[in-house]
Amino acid sequence: MAELILTRNFHLAESHTLRVYRETGGYEAVRKAFGMAPADVVAEVRRSNLRGLGGAGFPTGVKWGFIPKESTKPRYLVINGDEGEPGTFKDRYLLERDPHALIEGMIISAYAIGSHTAFVYIRGEYVRPWEIFSRAVEEACAAGFLGKNILGSGFDLDIIVHRGAGAYICGEETGLISSLEGNKGWPKLKPPFPAVRGAFGCPTIVNNVETICHVPPIINRGAEWFAGLGTKSQGGTRMYSVSGHVVRPGVYELPVSATVRQLIYEHAGGLPNGRRLKAVVPGGSSSAILTADEIDVTMDVDGLQRAGSMIGSAGVIVMDETVSIPEALMVIARFYAHESCGQCTPCRESTGWIYKTARRIVEGKGRKEDLDTILDVARRGAGTTICAFYDGAVGPYISYVEKFRAEFEALIGEGQPSLVVAH
Ligand SMILES: Cc1cc2nc3c(=O)[nH]c(=O)nc-3n(C[C@H](O)[C@H](O)[C@H](O)COP(=O)(O)O)c2cc1C
Ligand code: SF4
Repeated sequence: MAELILTRNFHLAESHTLRVYRETGGYEAVRKAFGMAPADVVAEVRRSNLRGLGGAGFPTGVKWGFIPKESTKPRYLVINGDEGEPGTFKDRYLLERDPHALIEGMIISAYAIGSHTAFVYIRGEYVRPWEIFSRAVEEACAAGFLGKNILGSGFDLDIIVHRGAGAYICGEETGLISSLEGNKGWPKLKPPFPAVRGAFGCPTIVNNVETICHVPPIINRGAEWFAGLGTKSQGGTRMYSVSGHVVRPGVYELPVSATVRQLIYEHAGGLPNGRRLKAVVPGGSSSAILTADEIDVTMDVDGLQRAGSMIGSAGVIVMDETVSIPEALMVIARFYAHESCGQCTPCRESTGWIYKTARRIVEGKGRKEDLDTILDVARRGAGTTICAFYDGAVGPYISYVEKFRAEFEALIGEGQPSLVVAH
């Protein structure tokens, strides 16, 4: 069993309290970081090969280095706790069970980038995680870990907790920043990237909850140790949310060098009732689907990319032989049609149109040309939009149809509904 890092305290009673966090070595890393120059903290995180765990997998230390050195504006650290990607439910556990790990990670990260105000944007539906995290912030303030002159270091940091209002697009970093500013959560074209011009027009680093929870152990135990846990291009462990047809659904922390097969069969107990595996969505709904023959891949950013998919937010959805792939596509297409913010024509029009076509097929009214038209429409829009939402939707549209085409064709050929869809 590999060592647990992020989830090491989850089994302890009261793991969310300052007392338990400190008894298990908490807030030691921040003392160590204050003894280092901020640039050395950035360099340590860069050498650890920590990559963003919110979706895009961008190297964290490299991103921190993008803040313009000459800028005299305030700098902001924004933590993305929107966790809207279907199939993903790991950040909520970190907020509920180890909130001080995030707070300590934020202090070190803010110190590294020179930020004195940090925000945590928490998904609106996450009431309990928000309550627990907010209480932890109060506790940390009262104990002198936040506020002015933290631990006598001369460094000041305030944390502001902000609740989202229930839109998937507010998880996209520029949409999140707009929402944080009090505006409609519409994404903006990049560049400029938030590190140059982000919240309130100032340099801003947006990082996922889980990403920042990794920072204290990296400072405590060193970049080499962390890098050595993973693959050549990605260090450490990460939390995989496993749902669907497995014996033990839940969140599993594993080194990023573990394979999809190991996760499903060695950790999540395999499939129930002796059923056969049909497909796996490896990285949240926006990742291309894998067939049962494609699961011997490592679950790091590059491993899944080589397999033609992506690890994204590591939301792993397991489907057994009873699942209808056309129905699965219809459900996902409905989600994207509903959540598109509507700014870009290809995204606004194609998501709605592909949902209607997928539904038509499922209802037994599909036409012979529908599949090629879905593929054509999906491919044409990719790479043409303001944000990565539409590229994320294209992955499932294309892979479901290409890899399970015969199943779609059978439904079209039969002309019988596979499901009666409520309108
Ligand atoms: C449509 C869309 C939704 C996203 N939702 C989330 C989310 O809920 N949580 C998250 O951390 N990142 C999300 N992201 C990725 C963020 O834009 C950003 O890359 C991430 O927060 C950066 O943090 P990281 O580098 O630590 O991963 C989303 C991206 C897109 C395109
Ligand atoms: S790609 Fe879609 S979600 Fe993103 S900005 Fe354009 S319309 Fe909005």
